Amino acid sequence: MRMFDIIKDKRDKKELTKEQIEFFIKGYVNGEVTDYQASALCMAIYFNGMTTEETTALTLAVRDSGEILDFSNIKGLRVDKHSTGGVGDKTSLIVAPIVASYGVKIAKMSGRGLGHTGGTIDKLESIPGFNTSLEKSEFERIVNETGIAIVGQSGELAPADKKLYALRDVTATVDSMPLIASSIMGKKLAANDDCIVLDVKTGSGSFMKTIEDSKALAKIMVDIGKNAGKKMLALITDMDIPLGNAIGNALEVKEAIQTLKGEGPADLTEVCIELAANMLYLAEKGEKQECYEMAKKAIENRSALDTFAKMVEAQGGSKEHILNPELFEKAKYEYAVKAPIEGFISSVDTEGYGTASLLLGAGRNVKEDVIDFSAGIILSAKVGDYVKKGDLIATLYASNEDKFIASAKKLLESTRICETKPEKRPLILARVE
Ligand code: URA
Repeated sequence: MRMFDIIKDKRDKKELTKEQIEFFIKGYVNGEVTDYQASALCMAIYFNGMTTEETTALTLAVRDSGEILDFSNIKGLRVDKHSTGGVGDKTSLIVAPIVASYGVKIAKMSGRGLGHTGGTIDKLESIPGFNTSLEKSEFERIVNETGIAIVGQSGELAPADKKLYALRDVTATVDSMPLIASSIMGKKLAANDDCIVLDVKTGSGSFMKTIEDSKALAKIMVDIGKNAGKKMLALITDMDIPLGNAIGNALEVKEAIQTLKGEGPADLTEVCIELAANMLYLAEKGEKQECYEMAKKAIENRSALDTFAKMVEAQGGSKEHILNPELFEKAKYEYAVKAPIEGFISSVDTEGYGTASLLLGAGRNVKEDVIDFSAGIILSAKVGDYVKKGDLIATLYASNEDKFIASAKKLLESTRICETKPEKRPLILARVE
């Protein structure tokens, strides 16, 4: 078998066999398939798609590219949640401690930023001292003692995805349904949790721009998970508008803390309650309505915030920063973006907002880029708000003033202002079980 023929077959819209897919994944992990060949195949998949059989074979090959984790040392049911990626999506930081505060175990492996979207691991690393790469025994100990730990994907877990994820991030091949489904489900199956809630984002800031594509992505992932014996459900949630007001790593952690105190933005709080309630439901903690009440209560009585602080401390992070978020290092420079005309913010290109944050240093342009944790954006006006000419729309934060011009231009180009107030779109658009 030759990699050349596999690329050519996909380029020519042929269905790949299970053997071809396994050859590609094994070869890419052991270095026999090069980055440029993997990149060409990803681009061919991007353009020509994959059948359900191909996507399933790719998912299982990704899962089997490394160790399938055995967490039998962790006592109790383990529940996970995974988002397909969005802008300002800091839900894991809020949802995971809510659920863990009820004794459901969260042994979570999260990702880094991808394309224009942020990643939980980059966000957590903005907390001074926080260690995202624990030894397995240490990880298990923390989960058993505090109920929750969040780490990055280890080299042993789905190494094929680790390499492909970084490659796709810089070759414009992220937003492909089979590549997303196999990436997410390959590592979720390897992580071997009992129940999984998927947060499939839809809209201009997500990798799936239409509700139909998002539902199709949700369905294929739910089916793959169920066939592998997992309890699954997916929510389709809105990403036509950034979630919350903060975009960028430390800024988002601060907003997550605010939300855990019950003082967060309404949209972010609503999506988090929905996700947490569904995780508690899958974990059989009660009927649906009871699970909603439980999720709200964990915020009201601060037990989720307490669980988050305990996790941060257990993973070597500064608990002081969680208790006093003003301790987070501030960016050296800030820049006000003002409304160029009067009117309603009728819509935004959320991907453009993610790119504007990346341009400030909050994300990566090449695999090796180092993130500036203090960089990012705080939105002062969102879709539906009325602004006068000169009103503040957003504040940009960066460590280098040169970054402001391109970022502000991108943000303004991505903001449409007009005379009519836009209709409010629901945040939870569908549920796939
Ligand atoms: N999240 C992932 O883990 N993989 C993708 O491909 C997209 C989002």
